[in-house]
Amino acid sequence: MWTVAILTSSDQGAMGLRADESGALLQESLAGFGEVRDRRILPDEEEQLAAQMREWVEQGMDLIVTTGGTGLGPRDVTPEATRRVITREIPGIAEAMRQESLKHTQMGMLSRAVAGQSGQTLVINMPGSPKAVRELLPVIRPILDHALRLIHGQTQHEK
Ligand code: MTE
Repeated sequence: MWTVAILTSSDQGAMGLRADESGALLQESLAGFGEVRDRRILPDEEEQLAAQMREWVEQGMDLIVTTGGTGLGPRDVTPEATRRVITREIPGIAEAMRQESLKHTQMGMLSRAVAGQSGQTLVINMPGSPKAVRELLPVIRPILDHALRLIHGQTQHEK
């Protein structure tokens, strides 16, 4: 079973002023895919977010999903933090999510979410709203297992 960590970037959430609905939703939805080993809420601080992701990479977590902080607000730094950690970007994952987002809202083009790999860990940014998470999970869910297998060197093509 794959191991999963969930990171919510939210100043309000970290201060306990807002319930972490998206993090809870991710935890619930990914429970069938893997074992959710850790879930944290951190303020929108690039250094802290990157340090948390690095720690999980070092622990050998298979999948890190982040929610929030991908927009244009002055405090939105999740993509920057993620870029510090990943060694290879996987543009197609973020492209597919934005494509789906545009079916629901034109604001979809405002998410700067990125995805990539760091060592054997797959890292995926998602927007912060529970609505977005609900709409976008079905996009990434079908590729997760194959992506992780590839990252682990199981590179045989499907027949
Ligand atoms: N994508 C989907 N599928 N559904 C949404 O409601 N909201 C958008 C966008 N992507 C949205 C979405 C909005 S309003 C913003 S500002 C950006 O994601 C960035 O969100 P974030 O700053 O919470 O990460």
